[in-house]
Amino acid sequence: GKGEKGEYIEVDDNEKLPHSEQRKWEQEQIKSAFFKFGAKDAKAQNEYELLLDEQIDFIQALQLEGTKEKKEEKEKSEYQKMRMTIEETKISLPVYPFKEALIEAIRNYQILIVEGETGSGKTTQIPQYLHEAGFTDDGKKIGCTQPRRVAAMSVAARVAQEMNVKLGNEVGYSIRFEDCTSDRTVIKYMTDGTLHREFLSEPDLASYSVMIIDEAHERTLHTDILFGLVKDITRFRPDLKLLISSATLDAEKFSNFFDEAPIFRIPGRRFPVDIYYTKAPEADYIDACVVSVLQIHATQPLGDVLVFLTGQEEIETCVEMLQERTKRLGKKIRELIILPVYANLPSDMQAKIFEQTPEGARKVVLATNIAETSLTIDNIIYVIDPGFAKQNNFNSKTGMESLIVVPISKASANQRAGRAGRVAPGKCFRLYTAWAYKYELEDNTVPEIQRINLGNAVLTLKALGINDLIHFDFLDPPPHETLVLALEQLYALGALNHHGELTKAGRRMAEFPTDPMLAKMLLASEKYKCSEEVVTIAAMLSVNSSVFYRPKDKIIHADTARKNFFHPSGDHLTLMNVYNQWVESDFSVQWCYENFIQYRSMKRARDVREQLAGLMDRVEIEMVSSISEDANIRKAITAGYFYHIAKFSKGGNYKTVKHNQTVMIHPNSALFEELPRWVIYHELVFTSKEFMRQVTEIESKWLLEVAPHYYKSKELEDSTNKKMPKTVGKSANSQ
Ligand code: CDP
Ligand code: MG
Repeated sequence: GKGEKGEYIEVDDNEKLPHSEQRKWEQEQIKSAFFKFGAKDAKAQNEYELLLDEQIDFIQALQLEGTKEKKEEKEKSEYQKMRMTIEETKISLPVYPFKEALIEAIRNYQILIVEGETGSGKTTQIPQYLHEAGFTDDGKKIGCTQPRRVAAMSVAARVAQEMNVKLGNEVGYSIRFEDCTSDRTVIKYMTDGTLHREFLSEPDLASYSVMIIDEAHERTLHTDILFGLVKDITRFRPDLKLLISSATLDAEKFSNFFDEAPIFRIPGRRFPVDIYYTKAPEADYIDACVVSVLQIHATQPLGDVLVFLTGQEEIETCVEMLQERTKRLGKKIRELIILPVYANLPSDMQAKIFEQTPEGARKVVLATNIAETSLTIDNIIYVIDPGFAKQNNFNSKTGMESLIVVPISKASANQRAGRAGRVAPGKCFRLYTAWAYKYELEDNTVPEIQRINLGNAVLTLKALGINDLIHFDFLDPPPHETLVLALEQLYALGALNHHGELTKAGRRMAEFPTDPMLAKMLLASEKYKCSEEVVTIAAMLSVNSSVFYRPKDKIIHADTARKNFFHPSGDHLTLMNVYNQWVESDFSVQWCYENFIQYRSMKRARDVREQLAGLMDRVEIEMVSSISEDANIRKAITAGYFYHIAKFSKGGNYKTVKHNQTVMIHPNSALFEELPRWVIYHELVFTSKEFMRQVTEIESKWLLEVAPHYYKSKELEDSTNKKMPKTVGKSANSQ
């Protein structure tokens, strides 16, 4: 950030930092921990515990001294000052003094670019200002898009609270598979994907008076496509106001795209943030995070901590480790409130992260990069940034999509650091070297549209009647080959004809807010008379967090429980088993608990299933069951996912059929030890290796049945589907 107000210090070299002896001491403590305890072995662990104990004793000793006591007192009262009522918070936000000017600008211009730092109040306040200024008086709504579902939900909850209304009434949200709005809703938050889909039923956005495309800087695929769509709408709906709001310096670019729309800048407010780097790269950043949190807790003044991790699994691991270690330290340390935040976090848990930290306690929030700009958690003073994020990447040469952990960009790193300086001067601990920051990180994150599969986006655009995608008004066009590949894939799935026009099947597929492959699988269940089962499987696949609960101290029990659900043909039917048994238990919480199943994931799967069943009704597919024939179910899956086929190769390795890429079955799969010859997989995840997740055995001849235009029998020679001897490759497979 280069804001003129409130300096943001960025250093490459700790030596250059001006700091008191006290600060130097603190820094040394933290740094020494970074270096010493990267290792996981018991000895280092013990040493660490000892050191921590010593430090705590040391701090307690210091606290007994009068001077220190005073310092503590002062800290406390300053901390107290940061706690404000809702009304006080509203008035204190940077956007507040610009309320009138902003409304004025919106009245004067049809399109306005709003730029202001994260936390300035753009998302929560502007819709309220517009509502108060009468923009909803004609019965039309104010819409506001968010790239992430958690943000849409939590911001809506916050605004409902500020307006003192019930969530879902005047203020609501709509996300995929969940609509929490009513006829009375005037402020509606939604994901960008949801608005993209709303165009299908309301191409002119007639029910909105204002549309805010928020967090535009995130440049998600849907947001990028919305830019083109809303720009078009403003031409024939002069009464529609359009706001593009962004936290960063892309404003000029947006302005250029939107016919030189004026930029409204909300001056930022940011306290200095000191940045610390590690001297050497971290071998295990999870462990380094845990150590750092405890170090901060033991040595630093009160103030909450925000840790950036890449996903739910990592966050859960970290939560468990922290819980366990704080428990062991017991009363020796102040209370540490440990809170996770990730995309699938249930709403009751989400509310917790915004609750005020009790006096004398410290809160640590473990979040995905959702907390980078979409969510603002107050009172964060310390940020721990390991420097990674999970990213969806698509290889247009191989047509393969995979979720991988990648280093973040400099822009992201600076956003993350900035989260520490919102309410007071803060500190950011980067778990990478200054050298890495300078020479290894890219300047900016590549927009999603240039790196992911466009299948779903292209299908929706086609369904909107936009046929000429090559000339669509993109802010940054996707690579030509990605676009072509998406068209080819839709053609192979039967959604487009050879003129590139939407087919009847394509129109039905577009009804589903899912990947075209999943939509195709659902449609195929009609032919194979197994819609009940396939809808269940689709719902379980859509709950992309793991349904299996694996607490560290009960791994053996948990794995045994998981194996009890295994279906011999693989993971898709295993997931179905889990769901059906849960239904038999009458959706019991207790049952989930006993079987190491995540109740929340199941509840969500149930909601998704209901939604999907509704959509099946809309495309007139009857819900029928094929109890006796699981091959039918697997054929329906194959009809959708015939792109995702791999053949056993050697040593536990598989090769993908079209592109000959080496992949392996994920160790959690029901087929991990089975190694059937032909498998279909739901997704590829790259961790230490390229793993297939959700794997099911198929017969290669089915491919000729479900995708004759894509596979030739020559490619599938040896369709006898004999299993390999069980011992082959097994040892090589365990890693
Ligand atoms: O959109 P922008 O980043 O500019 O700010 P915002 O999301 O509107 O956040 C403004 C303030 O609202 C934050 O500083 C928080 O105090 C508060 N907020 C909250 O308490 N709970 C939420 N779920 C969202 C925001
Ligand atoms: Mg915002």
